[in-house]
Amino acid sequence: MDLADIGVTGLATMGRNLARNLARHGYAVAVHNRTAGRTEELVAQFGGEGTFLPATDLKSFVASLKRPRRAIVMVKAGPGTDAVIDQLAELMEPGDMIVDGGNALFTDTRRREAALREKGIHFVGTGISGGEEGALHGPSIMPGGSRESYEALGPILEDIAAKVDGVPCATYVGPDGAGHFVKMVHNGIEYADMQLIAESYDLLRQALGATPAELAEIFREWNAGELESYLIEITAEVLAHVDAETGKPFVDVVLDQAEQKGTGRWTVQSALDLGVPVTGIAEAVFARSLSGHPEQRAAARALAGPAVSGVADRSFVEDVRQALYASKIVAYAQGFDQITAASQEFGWDIDRGAMATIWRGGCIIRARFLDRIRQAFDADPSLATLLVDRYFADALALAQDAWRRVVSTAASIGVPTPGFSSALAYYDALRRDRLPAALIQGQRDFFGAHTYRRVDREGAFHTDWSGDRAERPA
Ligand code: 6PG
Repeated sequence: MDLADIGVTGLATMGRNLARNLARHGYAVAVHNRTAGRTEELVAQFGGEGTFLPATDLKSFVASLKRPRRAIVMVKAGPGTDAVIDQLAELMEPGDMIVDGGNALFTDTRRREAALREKGIHFVGTGISGGEEGALHGPSIMPGGSRESYEALGPILEDIAAKVDGVPCATYVGPDGAGHFVKMVHNGIEYADMQLIAESYDLLRQALGATPAELAEIFREWNAGELESYLIEITAEVLAHVDAETGKPFVDVVLDQAEQKGTGRWTVQSALDLGVPVTGIAEAVFARSLSGHPEQRAAARALAGPAVSGVADRSFVEDVRQALYASKIVAYAQGFDQITAASQEFGWDIDRGAMATIWRGGCIIRARFLDRIRQAFDADPSLATLLVDRYFADALALAQDAWRRVVSTAASIGVPTPGFSSALAYYDALRRDRLPAALIQGQRDFFGAHTYRRVDREGAFHTDWSGDRAERPA
């Protein structure tokens, strides 16, 4: 019997499309799903696209794989993943590979990798971005795990990934949970990017009284410049869409409560643990949470707002574009800082330029701008922050006046722009010669004898605030 090059278990949309992508690239693909109907459906509908080896149970699925076996698990992240992994591991041998292509929490991936390593099985936690279309036509793939497993898997993943200038959007990320971590931060950045775009829309609509159709045109124009990206492109599409039933702009008939599956929240939780200020991502997560509190929003509708509600000047459009670009640079810089911190914490040795490279295509945050990020990290792999790279520093310098005007206009007309405002605050805080953190240290020492360091001497000190106020080494 002919054996499969690789297998996919879990044939919901993402798994099915990934299996088809593999088959279309000439790989013989073993396919399995808990309910056999889906497997049969896949083979009946798409069997002509390549070689599929359907299996009705995991035992025959594993038996149909070439050695070393490569099995991709595409089930919803959570306890279900553990069950499938455990069953596969029972059926596999040392040297085989289990690839988790779901959005798993990186700490779960670390745990699973360690457990399977004991058995000699490679566990490859892999970020896959690009939605259903990406899975089928070329996603961005972020695999973690052992280098050895990448030798056997990498060529296949690079083959089916999106390509930009002939370069695949897939590369080895790092050991154990590194791949899922990078995917998580990708999603966090996705949240920040979406929030910033949403603020631009809201502000322009409110300030200029522009219609969604007019705003679609503005986003379309923006997409021809430095903001060119998938998210800007689809924003124009969504804004131009008209609801068939009511004839109203689609955006006006959608309930304004943003949902989330959790990866943005995980990014912020991890950033808190790592001590990395990902303010753009955090504001985006909180903005979604706030939108989901209709009772409070209804109660607050009576609160006082400003007298002015708009601006007449069309130059505001360009100001908002600049504010969006500058805030986006900050959000990406923060996301990359989080990757840097985790890479150090967990010994992953992640190449940031390579991550920017594989995000250039296939994934949700794909953008022209990522090529600039790649160049920045390639030119200086130890760059302290993306903001100081020459290209980005110049872009921020050019944008900052407009950015400040946008944030102050938004405040004066009462349009919330947490993304723009916090990004500007971050930019200004980072630039500051002295921060009020010195005062906070004084307060901490006053009420809790928490001690402080001085600018002119080594060591920790405490002032006897309740006594003679003399300073003593701590
Ligand atoms: C991707 C996306 C995807 C994610 C959705 C949902 O990279 O293809 O990030 O993995 O599932 O974007 O995210 P929320 O439901 O949390 O908005």
